[in-house]
Amino acid sequence: MTVLGIETSCDETASAVCRDGTILSSVISSQTIHAEYGGVVPEIASREHEKYMTSIVESALERANIGKETVDAIAVTRGPGLMGALLTGVSFAKGLAQGLDIPCLGVNHIEAHIFANFIAYPELNYPFLCLLVSGGHTQIWEVRGLGDYKLLGETRDDAAGEAFDKGARILGLGFPGGPAIEQAAYGGNEKAIEFPQAFLKSDTIEFSFSGLKTALLYYVREISGTVTGTKLSDVAASYQQAIIDVLLSKLRQAIHQTGIQSAVIAGGVAANKKLRQHAEVKIHDCTVLFPTSSLCTDNAAMVAFLGEKYLLRGGATETNLAVVPNLRLAG
Ligand code: KG4
Ligand code: ZN
Repeated sequence: MTVLGIETSCDETASAVCRDGTILSSVISSQTIHAEYGGVVPEIASREHEKYMTSIVESALERANIGKETVDAIAVTRGPGLMGALLTGVSFAKGLAQGLDIPCLGVNHIEAHIFANFIAYPELNYPFLCLLVSGGHTQIWEVRGLGDYKLLGETRDDAAGEAFDKGARILGLGFPGGPAIEQAAYGGNEKAIEFPQAFLKSDTIEFSFSGLKTALLYYVREISGTVTGTKLSDVAASYQQAIIDVLLSKLRQAIHQTGIQSAVIAGGVAANKKLRQHAEVKIHDCTVLFPTSSLCTDNAAMVAFLGEKYLLRGGATETNLAVVPNLRLAG
C-alpha cells in the first residue's frame, strides 16, 4: 500500500510517502518566519502552510518517484495542534483524496511521534515505554499495541520543549529554543547553577517545568539582565541538565514501576544530544532507543507510516477527519 502523509499541526509543513512500511520520501519545510516573533504565531503558521502545501506534496511525490495516481490513501494529522494550521492540512488532504477517489485518514500527532520509532527500529516489540517530549507534551506512555496505550504520567504545567523555548527567550537566544539552548550549553558547566527540579525525588510519575522557567527569569534579573560568554554556557548547560535529569529520573521510575525493559524517546526534545548521551549512561537496566533527529521533530513520515498501519487494519472512515486542537490519546 502507498500512503501519502501530510503534517501541518504547528510550524512545519511536511509531506512524505510510505509504501509497505518503508519511507520513500520525507519533505519538511520549517517556517523560520516565527523566529522574529520569538514563538509560533498561529495566523502566520496557517498562511505559510497554505502557501507551501502544494509544492511540498509535489516534492514528496517526486522524490518518491511516483505519480499521485499511484497513491492508495492519504493520512493527515488531525490533532493535537493549532486549529488553523491543522485545518489547512486536513482540507488539502480531503480535497486531494476526493479528486483521486481514495480514502483519507486523520491521525493523532502524538501517536505518530510514538510510531516514528518503528520507522527507525522495525524490530521494536510491544510492550515498551515511550517518553514523549515535544513542544506541547511531556508524557510517559506504556505502549501495548497499535491503539492500546496507558498513560503513566505527564506534566502538570509546561512541556519540556516549552521549557526550552521559554528559557531560550529569557536568555535572548531565539526560537526554537531547544536547539538554541543546546548550542549555547556546549562546553558549559552543568553544575554551575542549581535550578529547581520538580518531583525529582518523589515516587510519582509527573513533571512540572514552570518553576524552572521562573527560577531562570529571577536568576537573569538578579545578575542585571544580560548573560554572555562562559556565564551563558554555564547557565544554558545547567538549565538543560535540570530538564534532562527530571525526564530521565521519571523514565527510570516508569521502568521500575512497570518492569518493562524497553523504552523509546520521541518528540522534538528527543533530538537533544545531551539527553541521548545521558539516557545511555544513566539508564542501565533497559534498552533506550531514539529515532534519528529528523524523525524526532515534526515530520510527515511518521504520519504516513502510522496511517498505513491503521488503513491495513481497516480504519479508514470519513468521520475521523475532524480537526481537534486538543486531541488526546486514549489511555
Ligand atoms: O515534536 P516537535 O517538533 O513539535 C511538537 O509537536 O511540539 O517539538 C518541538 C519542540 C520545541 O519546543 C523545540 O524547542 C524542541 O522540540 N526541540 C528541542 C531540540 N530540538 C527541538 N529541545 C531540545 N533540544 C533539541 N535539540
Ligand atoms: Zn510534534
